[in-house]
Amino acid sequence: MDEGRGSLIRFGISMPEQLVRDLDRWRRLRGYDSRSEAVRDLVREALVDYQWRDAPAESSTDVVGVVTIVYAHSKRNLSEHLTEAQHHRHTTAHAALHVHLSEEHCLEVIVLRGRREDVQSLADDLITATGVLHGKFVPTTTGEALV
Ligand code: NI
Repeated sequence: MDEGRGSLIRFGISMPEQLVRDLDRWRRLRGYDSRSEAVRDLVREALVDYQWRDAPAESSTDVVGVVTIVYAHSKRNLSEHLTEAQHHRHTTAHAALHVHLSEEHCLEVIVLRGRREDVQSLADDLITATGVLHGKFVPTTTGEALV
């Protein structure tokens, strides 16, 4: 991940030896070159999580999320329902990518952006639509609070 804006501040962190060993093993597997890089991403992850779960509902910070759904396009009314849901909330549903996975199956990747409640509610509607075989929601943020 990129280093963000502003200068880097160096500070020390004390951790139990085993935790540091585990961190090093994990970061190598993930491909992080340094502990700093790995810890920065862990902190950002925690802050995204905070923005989603604990930030005040009136927070003006937009949230962003990505929904992936796999479904059979022959399933009655499903394609129409999914398209309808996105048009109905077009200020939240920003973009969609449709991939024809096979004769039968489709993958759709939908980018949502807006108030947390709106994004979460549309994500839930898309994922829980009858006939969706696999749905996943990945919350993220605009990044403004994460630099
Ligand atoms: Ni398709």
